Amino acid sequence: MMKKFLFIISIIAFLFFSIPLSLPAMEYEHTLEAKNMQFSWTIEGDQIHVKLSAKTTGWASIGFDPEKAMLGANIIIGAVEKGKFKIEDHYADRKRGHSSDEKLGGRNDVLNPSGSEEDGVTTISFTLPLDTGDKYDKPINPTGISRIMFAYGAGKDSFKNRHSYRTIYEINLSTGENKKIK
Ligand code: HEM
Repeated sequence: MMKKFLFIISIIAFLFFSIPLSLPAMEYEHTLEAKNMQFSWTIEGDQIHVKLSAKTTGWASIGFDPEKAMLGANIIIGAVEKGKFKIEDHYADRKRGHSSDEKLGGRNDVLNPSGSEEDGVTTISFTLPLDTGDKYDKPINPTGISRIMFAYGAGKDSFKNRHSYRTIYEINLSTGENKKIK
């Protein structure tokens, strides 16, 4: 009886000490530094893993493939408010604004969302299928040149609040090669 008890205790102790208490942070394959913003990403199969941070206590956002100003971009926007993060899948249905895919009749395709705010820097991370099939997302091209916008808000967490900084880059998501175009 005692032997069995000691055996079970040693199994539990082994499992306790061999499983790390916190998972290691994800390593990303590429990183781009924009003004007060950092975009890290990895293409894995038919998905892209993204980490985006901005020097703001407001929202941080990335927009894939805008056509005219913001119009047509698949926007992912996130913020941390009172320790809780929110990340939404939006679509730029206007040249100077955006709405959530769900509101427009589409879907939220953001996977594994997470977010934190530390020392005035907001960081969000998430995974997106390269081709969600949603009407309000466009397939992300993993090999050619992609036009990608970055922006952050000015301290307020509301997604209706305009940016205090915005920029556009051309990026080859496979090689990491990039050029600021706006
Ligand atoms: C409700 C929120 C937003 C409002 C009201 C808004 C409004 C505007 C306005 C008025 C402009 C033209 C003036 C300017 O160039 O600054 C603009 C441009 C721009 N916005 Fe937004 N915006 C919003 C959110 C976003 C988000 C989430 C992004 C995503 C990354 C973004 C990216 C951009 C970019 C890259 C431009 C420059 C486009 C160009 O000149 O080709 N905006 N926005």
